[in-house]
Amino acid sequence: MKSTSRIAIFASGSGSNAQRIAEYFSGSSSVEISAVYCNKPEAYVMERARSLGIPSVLFDRDTFYNQTVILDDLKSRGVDWIVLAGFLWLVPVYILKAFPQRIVNIHPALLPGYGGRGMFGMKVHQAVIEAGEEQSGITIHYVNEQYDKGDILFQSKCKLSREDTAETLAAKIHELEYEHFPVVIGKLVSEGVNS
Ligand code: GAR
Repeated sequence: MKSTSRIAIFASGSGSNAQRIAEYFSGSSSVEISAVYCNKPEAYVMERARSLGIPSVLFDRDTFYNQTVILDDLKSRGVDWIVLAGFLWLVPVYILKAFPQRIVNIHPALLPGYGGRGMFGMKVHQAVIEAGEEQSGITIHYVNEQYDKGDILFQSKCKLSREDTAETLAAKIHELEYEHFPVVIGKLVSEGVNS
């Protein structure tokens, strides 16, 4: 049995979830964060990876969709799981096939509501506020070839008040993400190791 599970984190933005996940597993002997993969040179997650001492891999659209460099890199690092933490591109089929039921995403709303193409970050929170919802939450799900459509693994809710704005909702959602995402990943990975 493999003793260490290796996780690759894909992120496009600030990377606060990536940092939280890396810190959560930093003392772990069974889970290792192999690298952060990012499609935006200016994304703050690159800086976070540097500070955390985690290798980072930057790629562009052509590399991701038309070459196998990223898959080769994942394989060379012995990656077992891919975690999307604020990553905004569809994962190409050749990567999905190489990691069946081994790629998970976090979405900042209660899917199937407020998901799909173009629904990310603050846009999600604005839509939820504009619709006058009384609750929102987070969804952790497997990734397939469609945006936000893979099987749901976990959801957690928060209540909204009339005073909430997209910004205050974003803060509530981030708190839920920080609390639950690393724990759900830890459970999945340990179940995967034992199955
Ligand atoms: C998170 O809230 C995540 O759920 C969301 O982007 C944010 C990234 O924050 N993801 C999506 O909207 C995907 N559709 P972070 O960069 O600070 O972790």
